[in-house]
Amino acid sequence: MHRVTLVDTDICFQQDETHDTLLRAGLSQGIGLPYECNSGGCGSCKFELLEGELEELWPDAPALTARDRKKGRKLACQCRALSDLVIRMRTDESCVPVHAPARQQAVLEARRDITPDIVEFRLRTESPAHFQPGQYAMLTLPGTSAPRAYSMSNLANDNGIWEFWIRRKPDGAISPALFDSFHPGDTLALDGPYGLAVLNTGSPRDVVCIAGGSGISPVLSIARGLLRSPELADRALHFFLGARTRADICGLDELAALPGFDTRVTTYIALSDASPDEGWEGATGFIHELVAKELGPRLAEHECYLAGPPPMVQATTRMLMLDHKVPQEQVHFDRFF
Ligand SMILES: Cc1cc2nc3c(=O)[nH]c(=O)nc-3n(C[C@H](O)[C@H](O)[C@H](O)COP(=O)(O)OP(=O)(O)OC[C@H]3O[C@@H](n4cnc5c(N)ncnc54)[C@H](O)[C@@H]3O)c2cc1C
Ligand code: FES
Repeated sequence: MHRVTLVDTDICFQQDETHDTLLRAGLSQGIGLPYECNSGGCGSCKFELLEGELEELWPDAPALTARDRKKGRKLACQCRALSDLVIRMRTDESCVPVHAPARQQAVLEARRDITPDIVEFRLRTESPAHFQPGQYAMLTLPGTSAPRAYSMSNLANDNGIWEFWIRRKPDGAISPALFDSFHPGDTLALDGPYGLAVLNTGSPRDVVCIAGGSGISPVLSIARGLLRSPELADRALHFFLGARTRADICGLDELAALPGFDTRVTTYIALSDASPDEGWEGATGFIHELVAKELGPRLAEHECYLAGPPPMVQATTRMLMLDHKVPQEQVHFDRFF
């Protein structure tokens, strides 16, 4: 057990063998450490080590620039204490977890093909699945070194059910192993929930959801949370899906099954790689272009949720905040590093 103290504050937390990183140890103890991806990609969790010894789990993590390394900055999501530590890191009330994340075993109950390269993995834990719509969990397959972040597509429940829509990345280290070697009855370590791009139940605004590829998973959870919350029953939903080809379109049956779909939901699809022989007569191009075309100046009246590959999120947030002046606090996103 190692004690981690944040210099110039009265904040400290413990890191024991149940926590694989400083970030996850602090969050599990209710400390509002800043973060986004938990995966070494965004840089939100940078800190400085002042005293003590630690292990860097992924020294080459892309979120650290050469300047960061020169200045001795590190990533809390990629470091583990080897002794008591004193670190310099800011905290933020908005990062305090609503549901403290915890690591537990989960068993795979079922798999379901969603598209040619997205599969739904339905896992069950012994304790209830408590999370906010839009959050994710860190999954560690036995025999692999590092976890990966995957967003839940379902809603919190007392039955311990966590559903994930996962895309196979052909040259990836972990997702192909999930597809090829993870079968019903197998177990893995599930650590969560994490993530700050959650449904804002206090907002009076209508909602725009924008999914790029496997970004459908958290966005479907947001849509489910919105349409199943009685206190949000007067909010309309504009649901945008960006897919490559017709075969990659997904999530529409799940949306159509939600209460209020016929009266409250408008769906829009853009295909980026549609070939002429697919007979696609809908929109083509990137999804952020379709969002701008359809809602343009009305966007600032909405609460916007988006997820997908970093270039898609970058193009979409630029369009929302720079071109259409959507206030930053109305834009909620996860980049799938
Ligand atoms: C917040 C968040 C939510 C996500 N939700 C989903 C989802 O719902 N569905 C989905 O399909 N994908 C999701 N992803 C992407 C997913 O986490 C993986 O990046 C993707 O499955 C590819 O993993 P891979 O191991 O196959 O590929 P790889 O190319 O091997 O790894 C991809 C990512 O894993 C991390 N990584 C790589 N090497 C290391 C290392 N040595 N140590 C630690 N981390 C490392 C990096 O972030 C890298 O970008 C999400 C990502 C984030 C950040
Ligand atoms: S949270 Fe650590 S790099 Fe993103």
